[in-house]
Amino acid sequence: MNMSRASSLAPSMFLLGLAAAAGAAPAAPAKNAAPAKAASAADKPAKPKANAGVKPTRRAPLAPLPPGPDVAWSHAPFEVGQCNICHKSGDPKAPGPVVDNSNDMCFTCHEEIKEALAGRKFQHDAIDAGCTACHNPHNSRYKKLLTDPAPQLCYECHSDIEKVATTSKVRHGAITKERACLACHNPHAANVEHLLIQLPYDLCVGCHSTNDLADDNGKKLMNIKQLLTDNEVKHGPIAQKDCSACHQTHGSANFRLLVQAYPEKFYSPYDPANYALCYRCHNDQIMANATTTTLTKFRDGDRSLHYLHVHKEDRGRTCRACHEVHASHKPHQIRDAVPFGSGGWMLPLNFKQTATGGQCEKTCHNTKTYANKK
Ligand code: HEC
Ligand code: HEC
Ligand code: HEC
Ligand code: HEC
Ligand code: HEC
Ligand code: HEC
Ligand code: HEC
Ligand code: HEC
Ligand code: HEC
Repeated sequence: MNMSRASSLAPSMFLLGLAAAAGAAPAAPAKNAAPAKAASAADKPAKPKANAGVKPTRRAPLAPLPPGPDVAWSHAPFEVGQCNICHKSGDPKAPGPVVDNSNDMCFTCHEEIKEALAGRKFQHDAIDAGCTACHNPHNSRYKKLLTDPAPQLCYECHSDIEKVATTSKVRHGAITKERACLACHNPHAANVEHLLIQLPYDLCVGCHSTNDLADDNGKKLMNIKQLLTDNEVKHGPIAQKDCSACHQTHGSANFRLLVQAYPEKFYSPYDPANYALCYRCHNDQIMANATTTTLTKFRDGDRSLHYLHVHKEDRGRTCRACHEVHASHKPHQIRDAVPFGSGGWMLPLNFKQTATGGQCEKTCHNTKTYANKK
């Protein structure tokens, strides 16, 4: 069942660092599942820096909001009118300073938060700015006594995430809609790094498990969970459960939130820069020459069929014509069928691995066979 994998391990197929590092500066997480691509210093600067644009403190207006129809939530100890639970005086007109200007005052009643902060591996640095950086201790227009709802609350300190999430060419609905940031992050502390409430893969697959999601143009998105359940041959980074190897969660300049360029359509003029995504990890030489006996196994004798199909000045086929980058039934991530045209018709590939190479039948062309063994 894994014989396909074995053949793909030919070392010449994965001269990773070489090809990818020289060209496009990866605007992407440096980590990836590629076996041999060294994380070079050049990978780093383009990654959105965690600290850039983070204001460590902010001063939210903390006085009680005057009663009114939009003040929907009130804190129990404030509601009972005993200002001296927290202030020096019990006089609502002049409660004076607070008895303890630290989070400890909140912990006297909210032990569960204290325990969560102490018990989980990663704590949000915003806690140092005080519970009142995000909560009004008296009352609020928003649930959980928040001074603002997410994502605005978060943007007040995370201005570079705001920029990526709101101005990127391709945006991710998950970031700004419904629970927004809180769909993936815990505001206090978490056991997964970056304050994630689950491992990223589980978060992604959790939401991408229906047939109802559509992009901004109304185009239906694949049910990724089903795709991964139904197709046993997982692409390398998927087997590593690393969606971020290829996707930029908060927003991206590239089609489908990809970390680097990849053509949108079935046909595209050939230019290695259009495939920067794939060449982060794969050797671009697989497409470089019309003839080769070493650079690719998709060849008939010495005629490169990768070159033949892909390397054209106008209508080169894109990788998706044959490969499904998440998971497939067939070896080499070869797909069963490819969406062709805007109507969503699936063109079957009918690929078969053979003892000497492979064959495709009744697809774009009649049955054609290639032989890549000497
Ligand atoms: C009062 C300012 C402030 C607010 C408001 C704030 N943060 Fe933070 N946040 C910080 C600081 C400071 C850091 C640490 C900066 C760093 O490590 O780069 C941080 C770090 C993070 C991290 C990165 C943790 C890591 O290990 O990489 C995440 C995720 C995060 N915040 C999410 C949120 C979310 C979600 C919200 C809204 C619910 C939010 N923040 C609101 C100040 C704030
Ligand atoms: C659960 C604790 C708590 C209770 C109860 C409480 N407060 Fe406060 N209050 C705070 C905290 C914390 C601050 C912010 C103090 C600071 O940062 O200097 C504050 C600040 C204030 C401020 C000043 C706001 C500002 O921006 O400087 C006023 C006015 C105030 N409270 C009025 C009241 C009144 C009136 C009551 C009783 C009806 C009350 N508070 C009850 C915790 C509380
Ligand atoms: C004297 C006890 C007491 C103190 C001190 C106290 N709280 Fe509370 N807090 C409560 C109670 C009681 C509730 C309502 C609990 C419930 O409904 O489950 C509550 C609710 C909350 C909620 C909303 C929870 C929800 O599910 O809607 C937040 C947020 C909160 N407190 C934050 C704070 C912060 C921040 C401080 C410190 C400035 C603080 N509290 C200090 C008693 C306290
Ligand atoms: C960076 C902003 C931020 C800071 C700082 C912060 N909180 Fe929260 N807190 C939130 C948000 C956002 C929620 C709502 C979470 C949700 O709906 O899932 C929340 C929810 C809560 C709740 C309701 C129970 C729960 O877990 O949902 C309590 C109680 C609470 N916070 C107390 C505190 C205390 C006490 C501190 C200080 C130690 C604190 N918070 C600091 C953002 C913050
Ligand atoms: C809270 C639910 C939720 C989570 C979690 C989630 N997504 Fe999404 N995602 C959506 C929705 C809804 C869309 C539909 C299009 C839109 O609104 O951006 C979408 C769209 C996308 C798109 C297509 C974007 C486009 O417009 O072309 C990609 C790619 C994607 N998500 C990848 C991921 C990855 C990778 C993760 C994990 C890091 C993830 N998603 C986690 C809800 C989610
Ligand atoms: C769909 C899930 C999801 C949502 C929603 C989401 N994030 Fe993240 N966030 C992630 C993942 C996954 C990472 C880890 C880095 C990565 O793999 O891209 C991360 C990392 C971060 C980091 C630390 C690293 C960095 O890129 O700077 C911050 C800060 C952060 N998120 C803030 C936010 C804020 C603020 C919001 C809301 C505007 C938000 N996130 C919404 C999934 C999400
Ligand atoms: C090796 C790179 C790579 C990895 C890893 C990866 N993706 Fe993708 N993803 C892509 C590419 C390329 C596309 C565009 C495919 C196309 O249009 O042919 C895409 C498209 C998508 C889409 C849009 C699907 C559609 O119907 O157009 C979603 C949603 C998505 N990916 C989610 C995920 C999730 C969730 C994970 C982790 C389980 C993940 N991706 C891991 C490369 C990757
Ligand atoms: C983050 C690194 C990474 C990225 C980006 C990436 N791949 Fe891969 N790819 C791998 C790994 C790792 C393997 C598994 C190698 C193995 O097991 O032989 C693999 C295997 C493959 C295979 C199967 C090879 C074989 O002979 O079985 C194909 C085909 C493939 N990738 C195509 C693509 C395409 C097309 C893209 C761009 C859309 C892409 N890859 C992007 C890392 C990556
Ligand atoms: C016309 C179909 C087709 C297209 C288009 C195509 N491939 Fe392939 N590819 C194959 C076949 C078939 C194999 C398996 C060859 C074998 O081992 O028998 C393969 C193998 C691979 C391998 C394994 C190494 C090798 O060359 O043998 C990688 C990596 C790969 N393709 C990447 C890509 C990338 C990246 C693109 C787009 C730039 C792409 N392919 C476009 C059919 C295609």
